[in-house]
Amino acid sequence: MTTVEGLLEEGARRIAASPHIDHWQEDADVYDAESFLQEVIGDLDPRAEVPARDERRFLAMIDRRAAGEPSARILGFVDFLDIRIPVHEGAFYPRISSEAMATEAARRLRRRKKPVLVDLATGVGTVALAVGSGVKAARVYGVDVLPEAVRGARSNAKALKLKRASFLEGDLFEPLPANIRGTVDAITIHPPYVAVDEVQAQPKEIVDFEPVVTLTDGSPDGLGMVRRVAAESVDWLRPSGWLLIEVGADMGKKVASILRKAGYRDLTTVPDEYGVTRTVCARRPR
Ligand SMILES: C[S@@+](CC[C@H](N)C(=O)[O-])C[C@H]1O[C@@H](n2cnc3c(N)ncnc32)[C@H](O)[C@@H]1O
Repeated sequence: MTTVEGLLEEGARRIAASPHIDHWQEDADVYDAESFLQEVIGDLDPRAEVPARDERRFLAMIDRRAAGEPSARILGFVDFLDIRIPVHEGAFYPRISSEAMATEAARRLRRRKKPVLVDLATGVGTVALAVGSGVKAARVYGVDVLPEAVRGARSNAKALKLKRASFLEGDLFEPLPANIRGTVDAITIHPPYVAVDEVQAQPKEIVDFEPVVTLTDGSPDGLGMVRRVAAESVDWLRPSGWLLIEVGADMGKKVASILRKAGYRDLTTVPDEYGVTRTVCARRPR
């Protein structure tokens, strides 16, 4: 029999060696191995011995991950801030990189009375549901163009008993109720930001498992949706409202420049734990 410690080392080694994974996040191999083993045996006491049947189950999960399958798909859920989000086939698998944007949005909304959040390109509702759960007075709306995503988001809201959340199918702002125009306290978006010619070059875990509409808006620089949102948010935000955008690792400066040119104020860039800007926040133009 192998110990927990030995199995975790072997699991992390196999994942780290995989060419099918985007290894941008240091220690993600260790984190994945720990999540899988925890799912199989519960408590992770490093010196405990793992029964052969559990070892086989764990290594099968590791090998699926090393073959490129997203860890969220293998587990069936993502632990995101304080909530567990079930994943849904045919929709984007949530990434914990979005936690920073959700945290920034929640921090801004907590100070307001009955705040309204709109999460565009919501996928299975991850950011909308995390903010809605964390800010008790908030009314949250999520919009996505993919029916599978909207179905998943509604089912996740039901499982969390979050009645203050509505999920709508459509293109960006188009399906939102007209009566919230000009009253929104914060808009969040994790847009499809891969440049159209770069989609096929993405690692297998992305290109083989995510619908193409979740990856690219079809623009040559991947910023087409950011430009649209910068222009269209002005009508929906209240004068003191915030636009928060999750950006690709090399996009922070370009997104900040688009917002600055569109007249947005109080621009803030939020670095992740590796010092890379992954969230840009700005207040509505006057
Ligand atoms: C990178 S994913 C982010 C999903 C989710 N916010 C998350 O972080 O888990 C981008 C999402 O944008 C959606 N999308 C693409 N084009 C859209 C459009 N025109 N209007 C609304 N949603 C769109 C995709 O279906 C996908 O769910």
